[in-house]
Parts: sequence; C-alpha cells; structure tokens
Amino acid sequence: MNEQAGIKWRNVLIVDDSPENIIILKAALADGDYGIKIALDGEKALEIANTTPIDIILLDVVMPDMDGFEVCRRLKENPRTASIPVIFVTAMNEVADEETGFASGGVDYITKPASASIVRARVATHLALYDQNQELEKKVRERTAEVVETRLEIIQRLARAAEYRDNETGEHIVRMSRYCRIISLASGHSAEYAEMILNAAPLHDIGKIGIPDAILLKPGRLDRDEFEIIKSHCVIGHTIIGDHRSKLLQTASMIALRHHEKWDGKGYPGGISGEDIPISGRIIAVADVFDALTTTRPYKKAWPLEKAVDEIKRESGAHFDPAVVAAFLKSLPEIIEVMHSCKKIQG
Ligand SMILES: [Fe+2]
Ligand SMILES: [Fe+2]
Repeated sequence: MNEQAGIKWRNVLIVDDSPENIIILKAALADGDYGIKIALDGEKALEIANTTPIDIILLDVVMPDMDGFEVCRRLKENPRTASIPVIFVTAMNEVADEETGFASGGVDYITKPASASIVRARVATHLALYDQNQELEKKVRERTAEVVETRLEIIQRLARAAEYRDNETGEHIVRMSRYCRIISLASGHSAEYAEMILNAAPLHDIGKIGIPDAILLKPGRLDRDEFEIIKSHCVIGHTIIGDHRSKLLQTASMIALRHHEKWDGKGYPGGISGEDIPISGRIIAVADVFDALTTTRPYKKAWPLEKAVDEIKRESGAHFDPAVVAAFLKSLPEIIEVMHSCKKIQG
C-alpha cells in the first residue's frame, strides 16, 4: 500500500501477453486509486512482484513460455510475494482450469471478455479481504509477542524471588545468563538456542526457596547433613518449574536439576557424567562457577581474572565438559566485556 497526498493508492500488477487485454483491464481500473504496473510475460511479472510493492495481481493464464498457473505457483513459493492475492483473467472457463488455478494459489477467476464493473468489484473485494487478513495476522503477532513477554517476565520474577532467599545477587543472575548465551554461540549452537539458555538460566537456583534459612544463610561451614539438604535445591527447583510443554521451561527445569553435575560424575544430585548431563547443564556449570569465582561473596573475595580462568582450565575434563571449556576460552574477550559492563552498571 502506498500513500500520497493523504490518499491510499494500491498497486495492481496486470500480467498479459496481449496489449488489447491490458488496455481493457487498465481502463476498468482507471477511476480507482490504483497504481498500474504492466508485465507482458511471466518472467517480468515475477521480477516486478519481487522488487515493487504490489497489492494485487491480475494474471492471464495462456501466455508463451511460462503460463499463468506456473507464475502463480512461483509467486506463492517466494515468501516476499506469497501473500499477494492473484486473480486469474482468462478465456478458458472449464471447471478443470478453474481447479488448477485455485490449486496454484489464485483467489478468484474473471473470464474474458472482462466487464469493467466485474474487474473493479473483484479487485476491491480481494483487496479488502487481503487487508483484513493482514490486520488479523498483525493482531496474532502482537498477542503472541505479549504472551512471550509475559512468560519471560514471570520467569524473571520467579528468579528474583529466589534471590531473596540467597546471598547471591541479581547481578550474578544477569552476568551468568549472558555468559551462558556467549558460550552457547561459541559452541556452535543456534542463536535461538542461545537465547533460550539466556532466558532459562536465571532459574537455576530457584530450588533454594525450599531450603531452610538456618542452613542457606549459615555463615560457617556446613556439616554433612546440612550439605545434603543444600544439595536438594536441584530437585526442588526441578519440581517447582515442573513438566511443561514449553521448550523454555523444559530447559529451565533441566538446568535446575543438572547445574551441579560434573563431567567426571562426581557432582549431584544424579552423579551422572559426560554427555549424560544435558548440554544446558554443562554450559551453566562453567558460567555459574566462573561468575562465583570472579565476584565477591560474603564468605570470600573475588579472584583475579587470570586465576579464575586457570581454575576453569584446570577443571576441564573433571568438573567441566572440555568442549564447553574450549568454547568458554574462545569467547573469553566477550565474557570479559560482559563482566566489566555489568560491574559498571553496579557502579
Ligand atoms: Fe545451585
Ligand atoms: Fe548461581
């Protein structure tokens, strides 16, 4: 759709190998607010539709080289032109032809000789339908975006609830989630997967909600029984997030359960090892520990960067998946950048 001097005018592409037919169709639409484009063959029609904003196409069926049905099929295959309504204009009025036309993606048929009033009415009707569809699709997109945003918001709020129960800070969650995204990308995962890890990671310690204060906030060393209780935060978190159809929540639930597993099988709660640990858990483990090492906690000072990186390297093949450590080292400049930018935010 184009707007000029406040008037909305629509681009109609007329495709016909016969100049007489073009003159008839052009004349029929002369009084409307239409911008008319002409193509004398299928190849040219596809080129115009692909490079110019076209709102509707009047398409002849019998043309040399490429016939109208083929042009229509190709238009529908191309995402840029797939939604443009196509009306066939043809002398053939046998049922079989009409079926082929609809099967190739056309929305209507006008038979030649085309009367001006029918051409005008059909073009106006299909433009109105097209607008209505676009409007509906826009609404669906908006609503979907709203649902996605709400879901993310709830996840972030839930993560904040966990922070209240823990001495780890909100900045820890922000930094380690961003480290997870960077490491995922460096490991060759898709941008979509990296985004999902970024959004799921904040819930890794949600299970701490279920740990008594006396143990969670105890300043001194934990005895064996107390440590067993702390360990249960993985299963509690997994249960809180639960079993859900959403891939994001499934990942978050798995991360809550597996973020303390170790590559050599000496972690908890399952004591599983190697690739039995889901990749999300293996990535989180590196990001979580690296952030814990490089920041000050009530019970320890922040380690210098080099010492922390050495520790991650030393644990490659023991605590951590060597491939994840390699991805971490490869993306270290980016990780350091996030580390510094988050410190700046904290002031
Ligand atoms: Fe944890
Ligand atoms: Fe953590």
